[in-house]
Amino acid sequence: MNKIAAENNTVLSGMRPTGQLHLGHYHGVLKNWLNLQHEFKCFFFVADWHALTTHYEDPSIISKSSWDVVIDWLAAGINPNEATIFFQSRVPEHAELHLLLSMMTPLGWLERVPSYKDMQEKLREKDLDTYGFLGYPLLQSADILIYKAGQIPVGEDQVAHVELTREVARRFNFLYGREPGFEEKAEEAIKKMGKKNAKNYNNLRKKFQEEGDHEALEVARELLKSQQNITIADQERLYGYLEGGGRVILPEPQSLLAPTSKMPGIDGQKMSKSYNNTIALREDPESVEKKIRTMPTDTNRVRRTDPGDPAKCPVWQLHEVYSDDSTKEWVQNGCKSAGIGCIDCKMPVVEAINKELEPIRERANEYLETPDIIKNVVAEGCESARDIAKDTLEEVRGVMGLSYR
Ligand code: TRP
Ligand code: SF4
Repeated sequence: MNKIAAENNTVLSGMRPTGQLHLGHYHGVLKNWLNLQHEFKCFFFVADWHALTTHYEDPSIISKSSWDVVIDWLAAGINPNEATIFFQSRVPEHAELHLLLSMMTPLGWLERVPSYKDMQEKLREKDLDTYGFLGYPLLQSADILIYKAGQIPVGEDQVAHVELTREVARRFNFLYGREPGFEEKAEEAIKKMGKKNAKNYNNLRKKFQEEGDHEALEVARELLKSQQNITIADQERLYGYLEGGGRVILPEPQSLLAPTSKMPGIDGQKMSKSYNNTIALREDPESVEKKIRTMPTDTNRVRRTDPGDPAKCPVWQLHEVYSDDSTKEWVQNGCKSAGIGCIDCKMPVVEAINKELEPIRERANEYLETPDIIKNVVAEGCESARDIAKDTLEEVRGVMGLSYR
């Protein structure tokens, strides 16, 4: 892997605006983002163009959901002073980079992305035989590369997209990182590090290139990282020169797999809008209670006096998420001995969910009453995202021979 990205502290992730967010988003994604925002420079965006790839026939849900998504993020605790929050479609540079990358991306790479055929199968009722749908993983690559983001928090299903992004970046750097006089410039940059460092770098580079010594590669990267005297362009050259390629213009990102927490829905399947088994982050307490009360339980437990088995009951899965050990023990014993009824069993879950949602719901309501705050957050986020995107695009246009005006 070429570096810079893996060492850089930029995190980027997007979410499609196709409805209100629910507990699945919260446990699977947002809680992870909440931690990341303190540690990294984070960009979180509403992927409205991505939503269009599947909702082009009726996009009305996208505009409403885009604002809802931002409200839910903030209500869940994403802090706009720490993370940059924006709408993809308001940073049109993503589209230009997507177009430019499309020129050099082999069709087979896109056709082979696993989600392509899977989603077409899954969403049979929609006509997804479109150019936009085939190209959407490449749009995602553009989303990532335009910020030179190093860490991409994604679920399992998206790892292949980050992999594609790495291949695209590698190909791009190979094609366009070979500026005229690259080797001379790299050699000159080596000298600028000073005698001792230069000697070190040369030795490590040789060790890697001649003996395939990966540890030497790592050490050399560390060495480059610590250089204060050379420009970023020289540093990029030297990263590329280490591995024999050209200058690293678009760094390869890596996936940051979230600690897996599959949030079960109210039917025991994974919580997802398409299964209609969600609890929204803004669900009111009565509705939470109703949804849990009517949840199916172990089907062998027909009467109150029948013993049950938590392993066969979706309510148990919720206890696994929300309950402490003593409550779990109470469920196990009470269920198997028919000592408790299913409604008794469900009440701690209702309480735990409502306790978790209460502050989120409250903050969401505050934001709903002050739409200007939300608009400002997004406007500012779009502006700062655009500043960075423009710089990258300028560089990309340059190496692709498009900087004439
Ligand atoms: N494709 C992602 C999804 O469907 C959303 C997304 C778009 C994304 N661009 C991204 C995620 C860039 C991470 C990085 O969920
Ligand atoms: Fe499920 Fe609890 Fe009823 Fe057992 S007692 S079947 S775990 S709801």
